[in-house]
Amino acid sequence: MNIILFGPPGAGKGTQAERLAAKHKVKHLSTGDMLRGEVAAGTPLGLKLKSIMDSGALVSDDIMIELIATCIEQPECQKGFILDGFPRTLAQAAALEDMLQERGRGIDHVIVLKVDENALVARVLKRAAESGEARGDDNEETVTKRLKIYHDQTAPVLPFYEHRSVLRIVDGMQSIDEVTESIAEVLG
Ligand code: AP5
Ligand code: MG
Repeated sequence: MNIILFGPPGAGKGTQAERLAAKHKVKHLSTGDMLRGEVAAGTPLGLKLKSIMDSGALVSDDIMIELIATCIEQPECQKGFILDGFPRTLAQAAALEDMLQERGRGIDHVIVLKVDENALVARVLKRAAESGEARGDDNEETVTKRLKIYHDQTAPVLPFYEHRSVLRIVDGMQSIDEVTESIAEVLG
């Protein structure tokens, strides 16, 4: 089963992707976590990535597409995967479709977490306050910028999947457990 978890910053993609991956024993692929791993490794690429991510902007499509292409090849992804944070642009969605088609695979479900935008900033700021080491992009100014980029560059990906009849809309304003249940329901 190949699933995309889709939604704006703070929607709950990471929270739900982790649960889904554990339940279905498939690989959780969080591009944000992978990029933060590269930053933490302190490589020259990591330094470049950090300044982009801390500004709230998107990392280039070339880098992201290559990253995901490498992941999908791995043996642990052959049973399926949950994508969290990818694709974020139409170019990424088209590249993903090509790389899966070449392997006779495809996306089964795109789960869209619908959330009230006013709640998002509060969620992200709460996460920042509670974590020992807050993310460099978890402050009000950058979250607002990330939200704008979501609207400008990421939300336009939705019609791409609507045409493929794989969109599943879930109310992301429920409690974390209720969202998990709703996702289980839409997956049938
Ligand atoms: P990324 O790490 O993907 O961040 P994001 O999309 O902005 O989303 P978040 O991780 O902030 O939120 P989430 O939806 O995972 O929510 P979570 O479950 O944590 O990307 C970061 C950056 O990396 C990007 O800005 C970009 O620079 C770069 N990047 C990554 N992928 C890229 C790509 N494909 N192309 C280009 N650049 C890329 O929940 C948030 C908080 O709310 C948590 O504290 C959680 O406990 C809480 N919460 C969750 N659900 C609920 C609920 N139902 N009720 C109450 N609280 C809840
Ligand atoms: Mg996340």
